[in-house]
Amino acid sequence: MNVSDAIAQRRSTRDFLPDAVAVDVVRDILDRALRAPSGGNLQPWNVYVLSGDAKDRLVEAVAARLATHPRGEGAEYDIYPPGLTEPYRTRRYRVGEMMYEKLGIAREDKAARLMHFARNYGFFGAPIGMIFTMDRQMGEGQWVDLGLFMENILLLAEERGLATCAQESWAVWAQTLRALLPIPDDHIVFCGLALGYANPDAPVNTLRSERAPLEDIVTFIDRIDV
Ligand SMILES: Cc1cc2nc3c(=O)[nH]c(=O)nc-3n(C[C@H](O)[C@H](O)[C@H](O)COP(=O)(O)O)c2cc1C
Repeated sequence: MNVSDAIAQRRSTRDFLPDAVAVDVVRDILDRALRAPSGGNLQPWNVYVLSGDAKDRLVEAVAARLATHPRGEGAEYDIYPPGLTEPYRTRRYRVGEMMYEKLGIAREDKAARLMHFARNYGFFGAPIGMIFTMDRQMGEGQWVDLGLFMENILLLAEERGLATCAQESWAVWAQTLRALLPIPDDHIVFCGLALGYANPDAPVNTLRSERAPLEDIVTFIDRIDV
C-alpha cells in the first residue's frame, strides 16, 4: 500500500472486533511513527499503550465514574474553541449527523446518542488503547508535532490492515488517567487512540466523512502586484 492509498482509505473506525493485535505489530508501528518530523526535532510526544488487563482496568474505572460524571472530569485544554463559528460549527454538526444516521439513532434520541458517545471510553471495543500526553511547557507548534506523530500511527496502522480512531474524548478523564497511569503532573493529557481490527459488519464503520473542496481551503498565488 502506498501513502496515497493509506490516506484515501483511512477513516475513523468506531466499532472494533475483539481480535488481539500482536504487541510486535504495535511496537513496529510506533517505532516507525517516531520518524515524524517535529520543529527543532523536539519530539514532544509521549504515549501510553494499553492492552489486556490494563486497558480493561481503565475502561472499568471510567465506566464506574460515568454515572456521577456524565461529562467526564473536565479536560485540561479546550477540546473545541468555545463559541465555535462557521464554517467549523456546521462541519462538526454534519459529521455527527452522518454518524448517528449510520448508527440508526434519531436526532431527538439523546439517551442513545449519549450511549454511543460513551463507547469512546471502551475504545469502541478495540484491543489496544493509547493515551497521548505532552510536557505542559510545549506550545502550539509542538501540538502540531504531536499531531504529525499521530497521523503516522494512523497511516502505518492502515498499511497493516488495522483500523484506528483518534479520541480527544479521553481528555475529559485526565484525573482518572493520572490515577491509573504514570503520567507526570507536568504533562497534559491530549488524546486517546483506539487501534484494532474494524468490525466489517458495523454500519458506523462505513461512514465516509466529507471534506471541504480544495478551492475553499487552498489559495494558489503565482503573482503579487505591489
Ligand atoms: C485529534 C482527533 C481527535 C478525535 N477525537 C474523536 C473522539 O473522541 N471520538 C470520535 O468518535 N472521533 C474522534 N475523532 C475522529 C474525527 O471525528 C474524524 O477524524 C473526522 O470526523 C473525520 O472523519 P475521518 O477520520 O473518518 O476521516 C478525532 C479525530 C482527531 C484527529
